[in-house]
Amino acid sequence: MQSFRLSLRFILPLALVVGLFAYAVMPVVNDMTQRWFVRDLDARSQMLASALQQPLLEYVPQQDQARINQLFDRSVQDGRLFALAFCDASGRLLYRSASYPAALGCRQGTTGNASGDTHQSLVKLPQGKVHVTESPLMQGTELLGNLMLVHDMSYIERRTAETQEYLITLFALLAVVISLITVFIAHLSWRGWINAVKSMLRRDVRSQRSMSAPPEVQPLVGDLRALLHDIRLERQGEGVSAINWNPEKLRSLLHDELAGDQVLVVSNREPYIHTRTPEGIEVRRPASGLVTAVEPVMRACSGTWIAHGAGSADRETVDANDHVGVPPKKPAYTLRRVWLNKEEEQGYYYGFANEGLWPLCHIAHVRPVFRTSDWEQYVAVNQRFADAVVKEAQTDDPVVLVQDYHFALLPRMVREKLPRATIIMFWHIPWPNPESFGICPWREEILEGLLGNTLLGFHTPFHCKNFLETVDRYLEARIEYEASTISYGGELTEVEPYPISIAWPDAYPLSIPECRQAVRRDLNLPDNHLLALGVDRLDYTKGIIERFQAMERLLELHPSLIGRVSLLQIAAPSRSSLDEYQNLEARVRGLALRINKRFSSGSYEPIILKIEHYESEDVNRLYRGTDVCLVTSLHDGMNLVAKEFIAARDDERGVLVLSQFTGAARELHEALIINPYHIEQGAEALYRALTMPEGEQRERMRSMRTLVRDFNVYRWAGRMLIDAARLRRRERVTARIRTQSRKALRRVV
Ligand code: G6P
Repeated sequence: MQSFRLSLRFILPLALVVGLFAYAVMPVVNDMTQRWFVRDLDARSQMLASALQQPLLEYVPQQDQARINQLFDRSVQDGRLFALAFCDASGRLLYRSASYPAALGCRQGTTGNASGDTHQSLVKLPQGKVHVTESPLMQGTELLGNLMLVHDMSYIERRTAETQEYLITLFALLAVVISLITVFIAHLSWRGWINAVKSMLRRDVRSQRSMSAPPEVQPLVGDLRALLHDIRLERQGEGVSAINWNPEKLRSLLHDELAGDQVLVVSNREPYIHTRTPEGIEVRRPASGLVTAVEPVMRACSGTWIAHGAGSADRETVDANDHVGVPPKKPAYTLRRVWLNKEEEQGYYYGFANEGLWPLCHIAHVRPVFRTSDWEQYVAVNQRFADAVVKEAQTDDPVVLVQDYHFALLPRMVREKLPRATIIMFWHIPWPNPESFGICPWREEILEGLLGNTLLGFHTPFHCKNFLETVDRYLEARIEYEASTISYGGELTEVEPYPISIAWPDAYPLSIPECRQAVRRDLNLPDNHLLALGVDRLDYTKGIIERFQAMERLLELHPSLIGRVSLLQIAAPSRSSLDEYQNLEARVRGLALRINKRFSSGSYEPIILKIEHYESEDVNRLYRGTDVCLVTSLHDGMNLVAKEFIAARDDERGVLVLSQFTGAARELHEALIINPYHIEQGAEALYRALTMPEGEQRERMRSMRTLVRDFNVYRWAGRMLIDAARLRRRERVTARIRTQSRKALRRVV
């Protein structure tokens, strides 16, 4: 049926074209055929005239009417010659055959043809068109008269009509034959093409490293695979989005998809830090987007989290296996601490990770520093953590979730000891372009380490693309851009975007008006004081300087706001033993001081700077009690402060000003998006945020809240684990097939 429809699609236009062609050509053909026939008649008439000359030269002078009539009657018996007549030189009709039309009379030649020329014409009579030849009869130089030969033209019209019919039939036949041939050829190529595409699609697009598609499909292979990949992701996305993601769902997913397999997390920063204080041991949660995201996942799946025990009282709180149950009040999973000495921490964490990789990946105008001694510590510490993973593994195929740039080498190290493990890594910071990454002296080693992963996740598709291109540039690897896979040393790594998020919060202890009041009371501000908020680690990538400058510009542009608005900046001290961070702190403090001096009056300070650690409950109170949240990072993988602020605003008020250079800006389109380097733009956005009508605030906030609630951290983890489960299943099937074929081979041998 389909091919019939397809054929019709070919035949109809072709028939139409041929029909139109015939219609245009037919008059020309008619004209030509008529001219051929007339030329034929001309010649024929002349021959007849000369044949009749001799007898007429004899009979006309004798006026022998009987013989002339006889001659004429005999001649008109020829079917085509219709009539004959003779006119004398003065144009009188002397003799004629019975069929000679009276209406013709003696034509022009009767009077004017003394020159002796033959004259031929077509004449329309009531009974039809006739061909008339007037042939002069000369005796010496004397003109005796003109012989009139009349041919019937009706047979010409008949013939022309017949020719026309033949031609139309010919054209129609031609059209049908051409159509059939076209359809036949098209059908053959279509079938061949479809079979080739089908056989290509039947293969698992991800495992066809060495299989090449047939030549006719070759140009489309890339596009088709990309399409398939998109459809697959979309389908998964649809399925995944339709799920209402929560801890329970994640737990059941782990149970269903990973059959309760052991889950191990590895990160540098631990989720709970035990610190010794004069009052005893305190437990703190670090300021880390990574911890914010992974902690709820671990609570849901009760695995083991391996991290650096950096707290001053960490050793006192673990058991003989360096394990401690967390959260301390209601343990839900195990924290396994790894101890590092000063040199190790200095070289691996401060040195290579934070002076090398951090600025390398963020491109925030701070030069990366690469020292061989740092690199050596980085390698050694990665090995220490890899060994801890192997030791904690209860089976030979655990699911290992590796976090961030501190452990670029660990995936390959684990893979060497546990080849069957499913290793998933999430890179929480941006991945730069190949040129920028290329300045790292150990770029190949880092890439090789990362390609020990089964699955490697970034926040955005852009970072994935950068990674694929970097591998393409520096390693001999096979890359399938469309499928987003890298094959290196016989191993396959899938690279996918998984935008990280937060856990949607439960109810808050204080209402919004209570929070507003409490925040202003703590800061000694009047109830109607406008407050913008910044919450960050004290890091040069966060754009804190630019934020202060925007605040200063706001007060310059809108002096009426002086005394009525302040920016409260919470800056958690971070990596403070590094020069860059100390310099930043000095600059931040200096700038705040200068701006405050310029605009303060009485107790009013436009910038309220708190360089200290705030617990999450206090930060939540600030999110709920302020008017605007400023996220002005110069470059940020995602930035969870933006999402936390939105989640905290159950009153659907408050405005988010968000840097376009954060991963979050790709999702939170209703925020006021700015380029933080453009100070005026920042000031304008801040003004707009402070004066935004409540209706608009509600509309924007409502839409962003829906997104953050649905695309929460359980979905982030769930999507990665679903993908991991799929890859794990495939890995198991491949391994089984390999073993079976090996056994079969052995039997044959
Ligand atoms: C970023 C990194 C995390 C890190 C956090 C805090 O969010 O991606 O890996 O934990 O900063 O930094 P810190 O060096 O204090 O762990």
